[in-house]
Amino acid sequence: MLDQYFTGEKAEVRIGDQVFYLPIIQGTEGERAIDIRKLRSETGYITMDSGYMNTGACRSSITFLDGEKSILNYRGYAIEDLAEHCSFIEVAYLLINGMLPNIVELKQFSRQLNNHSMIHEDMVHFFDRFPPGASPMSILSSMVNTLCNFYPEMTDPLESFNITAARLLSKLRTVAAFSYRKSKGHPLTYPRHNLSYCANFLNMMFDSPVNPYLVDNVLVGALNKLLILHGDHELNCSTATVRIVGSARTNLYASISAGISALWGPLHGGANQEVMEMLEKIHREGGNYRKYIEKAKDPKDPFRLVGFGHRVYKNHDPRCRIIKKTCDEVLAALNMADDPLLAIAKELEEVALHDPYFIERNLYPNVDFYSGIIYRAMGIPTNMFTVMFALGRLPGWIAHWREMWDDPNTRIGRPRQVYVGPQLRPFVPIDQR
Ligand code: ACO
Repeated sequence: MLDQYFTGEKAEVRIGDQVFYLPIIQGTEGERAIDIRKLRSETGYITMDSGYMNTGACRSSITFLDGEKSILNYRGYAIEDLAEHCSFIEVAYLLINGMLPNIVELKQFSRQLNNHSMIHEDMVHFFDRFPPGASPMSILSSMVNTLCNFYPEMTDPLESFNITAARLLSKLRTVAAFSYRKSKGHPLTYPRHNLSYCANFLNMMFDSPVNPYLVDNVLVGALNKLLILHGDHELNCSTATVRIVGSARTNLYASISAGISALWGPLHGGANQEVMEMLEKIHREGGNYRKYIEKAKDPKDPFRLVGFGHRVYKNHDPRCRIIKKTCDEVLAALNMADDPLLAIAKELEEVALHDPYFIERNLYPNVDFYSGIIYRAMGIPTNMFTVMFALGRLPGWIAHWREMWDDPNTRIGRPRQVYVGPQLRPFVPIDQR
């Protein structure tokens, strides 16, 4: 219940000569909020907050982030520690269950994921029906939505939650790899029980009957880190979407499918693909990155320096620092340290961080700025980058969906508006218009 978070203090709202008192809530990290739920019933007023920039929609115990201090914690653990010491599967368990697994729990969880890694063979045929060049994000979202037809235990969503969560985590990886193989016209490689989550994914992507894939531990380690860093980010656009769709008591598969669609957008998860396209374009044009800095600063030009800026981080994105370091390590291990795109990215970052336009607006490189360079070095095509983001974000979406269902304060998500259209007017029959 919210009650334990009420501080006993009240905010005062004065409208004309009337005064209203609104309770204040405080979270465990000291964040404070004014509870306005009764504002409309008591005053007739609503609050206006386009883009929900200052609206708390729930209480959550999953992720804490402080954009001013560059802090990101999952379930109380610092992202730096998790990225350094954990596998993605451990972090997925943590996000969904609230605690890090011990060895027995981790083995059980891995076994469960292995047991659910295949997709129904009838679903495999669906891949053949998408036109050539179909977007992998559209395929992913459609396939996840239709999982509820093949695995319909969802009549009691909470009872079947654990198995549904395991299915999603395991099958999303399989669907992602299969969509790539089908797009290439290559035979499918099925998941293997003797490979870890990330090794399995890379093997499904790149193994071939004529050229067996050798799993590279540097790449597996980097993939684990990337997925962990994308694991959750509290109420970002896609997670808020999952929660709002789920608040209508929509099943987990369909809610996640909606989250995938939200992530697709270039202002959100789609940015990692756009960063790579931007870097490639700059490279093709001879490396003139300053032109793009000027374009980004020009108020008349809609161009934005993709991979820069964040709604919440007004300081360094802690994930970007880890990814940049990982990027250096991976490229060095693959003898690609002189990758021209990495050089352009670093130069862009350097110039932007010293430019008054970016400084005044607190625009720093975000999680997407360097991730694409690592994915590219792994052999993952640019149009799969956002799919990779979805794989990482999945445990966060699942954790939020579950938390939302368990929270007795949850109401169906339904913002209000201020109507600014025409007032009531007489109806005009069609022949008189
Ligand atoms: N390049 C140039 N200028 C920028 C950029 C950018 N990348 N981002 C913000 N600005 C400017 C805006 O033009 C605006 O300037 P103004 O005050 O002169 O009008 C100011 O900074 C504030 O920008 P907003 O759009 O109000 O910030 P908001 O919080 O709404 O947007 C967003 C955040 C969408 C991430 C934005 O910074 C952006 O478009 N970045 C590029 C896309 C991107 O990298 N998205 C990935 C985000 S991370 C993620 O979702 C995983």
